[in-house]
Amino acid sequence: MAHNQDAASQSPDRKTRMLAPDAEGINVAAALLRAGSLVAFPTETVYGLGADARDDAAVAGIYAAKARPSFNPLIVHLPDLDAVRTIAQVGPAAEALAAAFWPGPLTLVLPVTPASGLSRLVTAGLETVAVRVPAAPLAQELLRAAAIPVAAPSANPSGRISPTHAAHVMQGLEGRIDAVLDGGACAVGVESTILDVTGPPMLLRPGGLPAEVLEAALGAPLARLPDHQPDRPSAPGQLTSHYAPNARLRLNAQAPRTGETLLGFGPVEGAVLNLSRNADLVEATANLFAMLHKLDTPEVTTIAVSPIPDHGLGTAINDRLTRAAAPRA
Ligand code: TXA
Ligand code: MG
Repeated sequence: MAHNQDAASQSPDRKTRMLAPDAEGINVAAALLRAGSLVAFPTETVYGLGADARDDAAVAGIYAAKARPSFNPLIVHLPDLDAVRTIAQVGPAAEALAAAFWPGPLTLVLPVTPASGLSRLVTAGLETVAVRVPAAPLAQELLRAAAIPVAAPSANPSGRISPTHAAHVMQGLEGRIDAVLDGGACAVGVESTILDVTGPPMLLRPGGLPAEVLEAALGAPLARLPDHQPDRPSAPGQLTSHYAPNARLRLNAQAPRTGETLLGFGPVEGAVLNLSRNADLVEATANLFAMLHKLDTPEVTTIAVSPIPDHGLGTAINDRLTRAAAPRA
């Protein structure tokens, strides 16, 4: 199949197929990816919007469908460490982290190999590439069937809440992408933790694998980015306002004020939805984006959110909530 669209002019009028999580659905999804089409697929973190990472037009299609600012480099998804070695240089630190945590919700930034064949749109012209080996069985099967590196940001319009169900993907991108492989709910619920291992390991984004777990495995504290500068992309490409619902957000709310809708955590009174009544951070992470989606109706003007402990997965939850609450451009 040849490219039949100019990526820059993708109109929101193509037919988006919902593919079942069976052998046929996987084969169709893999064939579409190999043909340069855009396919959303479930990982254990969030749904990704996949495209052939070697194909400039296909990758440009991701940016067009999401309306994503083009300075953000994309994560490349592969089925295992051996496949990663074909595009990136895997040093001793990466080797050890891969053995401990792949497949799983950890993305490593590595030096890209000269013969990687990756589109420059994926790396945004950097000498490094972010790679991830997802654990979700459907993602594994798809990546093996496609047998190509798959670039995939979260499958939502840029700046909106990340999708943890196929229906969320359809709400945001129907008519702009070719297919969604429906794998039900994502088990983890926030994006992967991103670690730059081109030098001393540095945490670029808190996520589904807690920083404390990585620090315990490495036996040393992680380097961290300097504090966020509002609405300036930091190293590289994270806007402060991100993951935003239409409603306003008020964080660390002890109780809802008049007119607010409370998203609870722990045994709080008056919550419309509760991320985890038992104050379980794993459960809260898995519920985060789905509950924000559910509460984000035109009638809701402000979502108040209970305090979330700032350790383990709570760090990733607070990172996403802080971005969602940040002033919008
Ligand atoms: O869980 C996830 O990671 C999801 C699922 C779909 O796998 N994917 C995801 O991808 O969140 P994306 O494209 O939204 O994440 C891209 C982020 C960039 O904003 C940037 O912070 C970082 O990954 N990144 C990508 N390439 C990088 C590089 N070469 N150096 C530093 N950071 C990089
Ligand atoms: Mg995203």
